[in-house]
Amino acid sequence: MPRIRTNSSTAEDLLIELDRDRTRAEPLHRQVAASIRESVRAGRLRHGASLPPTRTLAAGLGVSRGVVVEAYQQLVAEGYLTSRAGGYTQVALEQGGTAGGAAPAAPARAQGAAPAVDFGYGHTDVSTFPRAAWLRSVRTVFAATPNERFAYLDGRGVPELHQALADYLNRVRGTSARPRHTVICSGFGQGVSLLVQVLAARGARRLAVEDPSPDDDARPLAAASGLDVVGIPVGPDGIRVEELEKADADAVVLTPSHQWPTGGVLSAAARARVIRWAQRRGALVIEDDYDAEYRYDRAPVGAIQGLAPDHVVYCGTASKTLVPGLRLGWMLVPPHLVDDVARAKLLADRGSSVIDQLTFADFLARGEFDRHLRRMRPVYRRRRDALLAALGARLPELTPTGVAAGQHVVAWLPPDLNEAAVVAAAARRGVALRGVARYRLDPAGPGGLIFGYATLSERAIAGGIAGLAQAVADVRGSQGAAP
Ligand SMILES: Cc1ncc(COP(=O)(O)O)c(C=O)c1O
Repeated sequence: MPRIRTNSSTAEDLLIELDRDRTRAEPLHRQVAASIRESVRAGRLRHGASLPPTRTLAAGLGVSRGVVVEAYQQLVAEGYLTSRAGGYTQVALEQGGTAGGAAPAAPARAQGAAPAVDFGYGHTDVSTFPRAAWLRSVRTVFAATPNERFAYLDGRGVPELHQALADYLNRVRGTSARPRHTVICSGFGQGVSLLVQVLAARGARRLAVEDPSPDDDARPLAAASGLDVVGIPVGPDGIRVEELEKADADAVVLTPSHQWPTGGVLSAAARARVIRWAQRRGALVIEDDYDAEYRYDRAPVGAIQGLAPDHVVYCGTASKTLVPGLRLGWMLVPPHLVDDVARAKLLADRGSSVIDQLTFADFLARGEFDRHLRRMRPVYRRRRDALLAALGARLPELTPTGVAAGQHVVAWLPPDLNEAAVVAAAARRGVALRGVARYRLDPAGPGGLIFGYATLSERAIAGGIAGLAQAVADVRGSQGAAP
């Protein structure tokens, strides 16, 4: 049976099956109609999909236009298709729908109501993305970039972005960035994935991580690459370097500017000690500088990479400063690793979008990134202040920590309050948040709550903390009621 694919630009890959030996039993227009009908029923043509113009489809199938017109008319009459003004034809039915029959049931809704206030960490306020300024940079890129620049490139990324990032990071973060040693990646998540692969291929056996630390990047990635993962406890000032020194690790992932999640800042003496550790062992420090740009009432702390660029990979991301959906990150890589990391990047996805990289380079060079951060800092600061004020007024027995920077705060619970019980009671009161426990490698440690505040209005924050205070009272009431 001949299978003819159309080359339509409006419905790519519309597969129509015609059997020209059977035209006496089933004329061509009926075969076309039957094939489209079957595609709609099977969901291959979705509700709202545009069909090719009759002339285009007829040419692709090698039939007269009248055959396709008749088929479309038949399907419009049956309710499968609809004719729109402007002369184009769209699918009218949902998948599995039968013409004239009942509409298919809507997909089941998720169980449980959405929380009234969601303190979930990791939500950036995507509504603040500077669209107009970004668009100006997109325009500039399209106006100024020769076509050949839109081809494949090497694994490092585009030189303009390397230079713009070096200028920015050396100025603002005190790094020692060299454009040639920069690798652009799809956010920190991909960056750490590439680094772990390169380390494993070079014989590394053990990766140290902060405890607590995220459970969705370095830890599972390292385990999947066959590395041992060892947790190093953090104190109020970040990782305990004396514990790192005992850990026999080949590399460590650190958030020195604002430990995630507890918010500690690694002191100058501890930074120097981490560097000495790395130099002594030939180990690598992976510096995750994920939210260094949002700093409110604390003196700036430069990146560790600036102290020892041959032993530190600096990782930055646009996920907190712009939006996570950009999937743009960058790494300043020690010279002896940069070729391997760039090769791993090419193997992973043949490089990040050239157009986005050029756009970001222009955006940085114009000073738009600085402007955006200047605009956003007071916004987040007000949200942070609203959170601290509400906690102070309603839940003074909680101890906030790491409040001077970032987009979240951890508050430690007093010993009589069980973290899981408070999180569950809060959910019943419509307040979503997470405890620190799930991020611990060693389960021992005080209970704490993580408050992401980046997307919440000051009013919502106050309401959420009021709900949490009721939840804490619920927990205390049920403890008191217990025999
Ligand atoms: C500690 C930490 N680092 C970095 C990131 C950013 O990851 P990515 O750049 O892959 O979006 C996050 C995201 O929430 C994070 O929690």
